[in-house]
Amino acid sequence: MTKILTVKIWRGGKDGTLESYSVPARKSQTVLDVVTYIQRHLDADLSYRFACRVGMCGSCAMTVNGVPRWTCRTHVDKVSQDGQLIIEPLKNLEIIRDLTTDMVPFFEKWEKAGGRFEGKQSRADKITAIDPDSKKRLAASAAIECINCAVCYSGCDTVRARDDYVGPAALNRAWSLFNDEKHTGQRKLKKSVKADGGCYTCHTHANCSQSCPVDLDPAGSIASLKRSYSMFGSRS
Ligand code: SF4
Ligand code: SF4
Ligand code: FES
Repeated sequence: MTKILTVKIWRGGKDGTLESYSVPARKSQTVLDVVTYIQRHLDADLSYRFACRVGMCGSCAMTVNGVPRWTCRTHVDKVSQDGQLIIEPLKNLEIIRDLTTDMVPFFEKWEKAGGRFEGKQSRADKITAIDPDSKKRLAASAAIECINCAVCYSGCDTVRARDDYVGPAALNRAWSLFNDEKHTGQRKLKKSVKADGGCYTCHTHANCSQSCPVDLDPAGSIASLKRSYSMFGSRS
């Protein structure tokens, strides 16, 4: 007999409610498979996001049984509790509808933290070689593979408490640029990262690093920014 999962899914906007669905359990089923089953077979109106289904695009993150996760790489049997799943949108972002959140503030905060690369070379210039084993390049590379999923942002209590806090992903990006020898916007980066709502607002709880699905360490990046900027001058 097919085992049935009881799945509760957030429907509506911020004043919405959880609705229940019964979904057949399958071997190696992911949480995204469950949501897709519901949308295709039970409720065509369900709104959610996904693209790659292989852990690259970062678009499928949701809150699953209270924890933010990338749903295309989260197996149901690892996270269901007594055959039950509660699937909600990411926290700390406004709900557009159902499982879809407004990601604009998340990306605007990358800008606010100085996360846009600026260079001085044009495509006509010869490429300047960077030693891939230099200390700075290794630090930049260690923080660079962010897939922009906002799992860390959704799980950060400081983001929840302070609207102006740019959050772990934006500061992780800032740390990568801090170490990028080709980035010419270092002065602007320093000003942005040290401003109110920047790196000194982080309380180093490290929820972000524990939850990052691609094993980045935003808490470590933020601690390194704090250390580096205090070495280079006063905080104000
Ligand atoms: S370490 Fe900082 S950014 Fe990470 S979860 Fe804690 S307060 Fe948020
Ligand atoms: S740092 Fe990790 S958890 Fe945060 S947005 Fe990037 S990939 Fe996602
Ligand atoms: S759908 Fe692309 S990371 Fe999950």
